[in-house]
Amino acid sequence: MTIKQALLWADRKLKETEDSKKSAYFLLKNVILKDESLILAYPEFLLTKRQELKFKQWILKRKKNLPVCYIVGFIDFYGLRFKVNKDVLIPRPETEVLVEMILSSVITAQAGIQKIKHLGSDLVISDIGTGSGAIGLSLAKNLPEAKIYLVDISSKALKVAKKNSKINNIQNVIFKKGNLLEPLSEKADIVVANLPYIPTEDLKGLPLDITCHEPRLALDGGEDGMDVYRQFFNQVKNKLKTCGKIYLEIGENQGEKVKDLSLGVFPNANVLLKKDWAGLDRYVIVDL
Ligand SMILES: C[S@@+](CC[C@H](N)C(=O)[O-])C[C@H]1O[C@@H](n2cnc3c(N)ncnc32)[C@H](O)[C@@H]1O
Repeated sequence: MTIKQALLWADRKLKETEDSKKSAYFLLKNVILKDESLILAYPEFLLTKRQELKFKQWILKRKKNLPVCYIVGFIDFYGLRFKVNKDVLIPRPETEVLVEMILSSVITAQAGIQKIKHLGSDLVISDIGTGSGAIGLSLAKNLPEAKIYLVDISSKALKVAKKNSKINNIQNVIFKKGNLLEPLSEKADIVVANLPYIPTEDLKGLPLDITCHEPRLALDGGEDGMDVYRQFFNQVKNKLKTCGKIYLEIGENQGEKVKDLSLGVFPNANVLLKKDWAGLDRYVIVDL
């Protein structure tokens, strides 16, 4: 079977699946382990029997709406490769922005412009609801002197995060299992969290890729999507240093609610809402 035949075969199988062409290219690229340009430039390239079999198996999995990242078993996030499976949410590109915001804030602070007190080897960051470890491990890789806590209530998710720390050769992390900030005994300079924030009713309207395969524990934020963030704000005061910062990813209609929650706990804080690429409220920074 050639590349052209493989893509035509996939097209027929996936006609009712979302992003069918994009999925077929991505899967084929990861079967033949060649650059996408080869797929485009050499439609007559012949797959080996083993490649053909693997491609067909993967396409049939995709037909059942399994996300392509679960099929190939990884995703690239902030320049690192993360193993993913059904026990963890697939990290989204918008979450890379959260990592970028924290890194640039720390670098600015290191240049003496901002007020985070503890830098270099004293810097402590807690990533709450770490899942695959995408946020915490990306920070740890870029801040090798810092100490990063990775917390999740799911032991299966923590197992994936631990594997990802090994794959990426990251040592400056400590894993904790438990409810939000409860398992932490050390106060952090920065607390970052991308917690479940989708209102339960809204889950029904999401694509099957998400609702049938990604963990509900990573998505469901209760009736208004805010249940887990309300708990988070009940706990965070005792887990953050005096001049600390909080970075959160939130749902598009939750900006004002999260701002109110933040000011309820930290009345003198500067609370900033930031938008995503679509112009929707997506991030909150609480600067104490
Ligand atoms: C939206 S996912 C985010 C995963 C990862 N941080 C990311 O950005 O890709 C939320 C994560 O929070 C975890 N979680 C949900 N409730 C929690 C709780 N009460 N305490 C700790 N972790 C929780 C879930 O298991 C899941 O891994």
